[in-house]
Amino acid sequence: MAQATTLHDAFLDELRDAYDAEKQLTKALPKMAKAASSPQLRKAFENHLKETQGQIGRLEKAFASLDEKARGKHCDGIEGIIEEGQSVMEEDFDETTMDACLIAAGQRAEHYEMAAYGTLVAWAKAMGHSEAASLLQQTLDEEKAADAKLSALAEGGINEQAADGAHADNEEEGAPALVGGGRQTASGNDSTKRSRRR
Ligand SMILES: [Fe+2]
Repeated sequence: MAQATTLHDAFLDELRDAYDAEKQLTKALPKMAKAASSPQLRKAFENHLKETQGQIGRLEKAFASLDEKARGKHCDGIEGIIEEGQSVMEEDFDETTMDACLIAAGQRAEHYEMAAYGTLVAWAKAMGHSEAASLLQQTLDEEKAADAKLSALAEGGINEQAADGAHADNEEEGAPALVGGGRQTASGNDSTKRSRRR
């Protein structure tokens, strides 16, 4: 009789998913670095590419610690996140807006990975796979630091710079539009009066 699938099987499945996700990211990160205008942002993506290569090595060690062959299983989640980032890069944004959007795309990937590694660490610990747990924890810490770095870049000037250009085109049209908005409210009051008159 076939044995029931256990948490250990689910754990191996998640490890394979993470292994594939990291491999997909090693192809996406150079494109994001190339699309970035801010030198610091480009550097952050390049650094994270190096870290990602190290994370692949750590996953291989984790597989080995469990006497398992390292292999990936296609990660649909990260594929979707990468595809969304790809379509952002095809947009005709100004430089800082593109940077702000690249940060948003990068952080989606980081958060996805943080969720995955958080689970992996907890499951490894629960099953007593201490070597795998410590390797996965190192990667989780790296993903958190990469995410914090992106937040610092966004909040340290990129968002503000992008916001400076956000309403440049409709500054002239903006004011009358507000007045128009006021008028709409007035006509709403008018119709109330009209209905009262009936
Ligand atoms: Fe990663």
